[in-house]
Amino acid sequence: MAGTRLIQWLNLLVWALVMLKTEGANVSITIVKDAVAKGAVCLDGSPPAYHWDKGFGAGINNWLVHIEGGGWCNNVTLCLNRSETRLGSSKHMDKAVNFTGILSRVQNYNPDFYNWNRIKIRYCDGASFTGDVEAVDPDTNLHFRGARIWPAVIEDLLSKGMKDAKNAFLSGNSAGGLASILHCDSFRALIPSGAKVKCLSDAGYFINVKDISGARHIEEFYSQVVATHGSAKNLPSSCTSKIKPELCFFPQNVAHEIKTP
Ligand SMILES: *[C@@H]1O[C@H](CO)[C@@H](O)[C@H](O)[C@H]1NC(C)=O
Ligand SMILES: *[C@@H]1O[C@H](CO)[C@@H](O)[C@H](O)[C@H]1NC(C)=O
Ligand SMILES: *[C@@H]1O[C@H](CO)[C@@H](O)[C@H](O)[C@H]1NC(C)=O
Ligand SMILES: *[C@@H]1O[C@H](CO)[C@@H](O)[C@H](O)[C@H]1NC(C)=O
Repeated sequence: MAGTRLIQWLNLLVWALVMLKTEGANVSITIVKDAVAKGAVCLDGSPPAYHWDKGFGAGINNWLVHIEGGGWCNNVTLCLNRSETRLGSSKHMDKAVNFTGILSRVQNYNPDFYNWNRIKIRYCDGASFTGDVEAVDPDTNLHFRGARIWPAVIEDLLSKGMKDAKNAFLSGNSAGGLASILHCDSFRALIPSGAKVKCLSDAGYFINVKDISGARHIEEFYSQVVATHGSAKNLPSSCTSKIKPELCFFPQNVAHEIKTP
């Protein structure tokens, strides 16, 4: 009896090691279930999520929060499509991911941050966490609520220990890099005042120019993103009070107002 148990356990252990070896990915997902009560949900209504690799040694009270990228959805058709993918639903996200680059825990690859608490916030709203529409379309069940996800996830991280942060660093890539610009000062405001806070945008400075056909495609695209997601009220009012809200989705019109380094 005990022998059978042991063999079962050994089988499980071997299976787990094989999975780890073949999958490699080993930073597991945290689903922020509490966020649902606040209406802070992904496009399909599922809870938001992040991955957290704990800090160690001298980095134990330092926190690097990285926002995943993945473009934007500018209308119901494309947002509906996205809601059936990892970029629109935590139901479709990998349960564990590899942490590489600025998220790596290997000192040689990431000498400045390897021992910090490193977090990857999963991108699942399609508008760089700016949307907030109360109504849910009964036909599609789409939720445009990214702006609610942002504080809900940060508050969850504060409760996990980020409230004691000595250093907090917001970063993000692509659509997440834009989010790190748009949310830099609100990140500062959510972190206790004793902490040193900075932000970094990696490939998130999208410029408002004509494309090679001579059309202002990106401006038109952003105006549809902002309209679909109800983003205007969550973009910096110092900008929206002066120019059209979609123009305030461009870093060139908002970055100079950021107070946090
Ligand atoms: C994670 O990294 C390992 C080792 O480099 C690699 O074999 C694996 O394919 C990666 N997994 C994913 C999901 O990217
Ligand atoms: C995850 O895998 C990498 C590469 O194999 C390893 O260096 C790291 O220590 C692992 N992380 C955890 C949390 O086990
Ligand atoms: C949605 O946006 C895409 C990309 O801009 C466009 O090709 C498509 O025609 C739009 N669909 C609707 C229904 O507006
Ligand atoms: C819809 O999503 C799938 C992935 O689920 C993707 O392959 C396809 O290109 C998307 N369609 C459009 C019109 O974007």
